[in-house]
Amino acid sequence: MSKVIILTGAGVSAESGISTFRDSDGLWEKYRVEDICTVGCLVSNRAQTLDFYDQRRIELKDKKPNHAHTIIAKLKKKYPKEIAVITQNVDNLFEKAGLKADEVVHLHGFLTNLECERCQEVYDVGYQKTAQSFGGKCPICGSDKVRPYIVMFGEAAPNYQLLYRAFDDCEMLVVIGTSGYVINTDMFLNPTIKISILNNLEPSPAINDRLYTKVLYKKASEAIDEIAADVETFLK
Ligand code: APR
Repeated sequence: MSKVIILTGAGVSAESGISTFRDSDGLWEKYRVEDICTVGCLVSNRAQTLDFYDQRRIELKDKKPNHAHTIIAKLKKKYPKEIAVITQNVDNLFEKAGLKADEVVHLHGFLTNLECERCQEVYDVGYQKTAQSFGGKCPICGSDKVRPYIVMFGEAAPNYQLLYRAFDDCEMLVVIGTSGYVINTDMFLNPTIKISILNNLEPSPAINDRLYTKVLYKKASEAIDEIAADVETFLK
């Protein structure tokens, strides 16, 4: 439960060189969600699915947090109990910016982890390909049926419970870099939310920006200092 929730999407990592999904050059312009990010694709299209996440994992190694990650991490460190950092992103840029695993909630999984499909062990493989890590086998039970630790469309996303619980006493919502197609951020704007800030590059058909008390259509790294000042003022 947090007074301030900072909810982010792919847009917060765009300036670090990580593709978003639905922008003009987004991942879903190049790949079909049905093929590599939908329940069942690890059965019907296993090789391409594993390869898709292997490639993104390898590319993540050299990606650096941008100013938005850095400022959000600083805010969380300064106000550990008052601020919840919750992201739809599976990259580790908040962790590279200094946040520990228990200081950021990943709703859709985490790219540098794999999960054993037999014993459900979740383990860190860094930036390795699936087949290279632990010889392609689960380090606990030895099964070779291991998969990306990513929530695919149609699969359970247990961390959403943490998102909903965080809203129990939330009074300020900050939304950065999400089109609202997967998480309808508007639905969280109940009367207890006194201040809501939306920061995207441009309006999204899935978000009614008139509902937000402040709207910033600019890059996250250019908006974050103003957003941080508003958060600090609110928490004083
Ligand atoms: N600064 C701020 N916002 C940005 C920037 C930037 N530099 N670049 C892009 N954006 C905004 C876009 O305006 C858009 O609203 O980020 C948003 C990206 O939207 P999507 O690509 O749809 O990403 P996201 O909303 O995070 O997708 C949610 O969909 O496919 C699934 O699991 C996947 O977590 C993902 C979920």
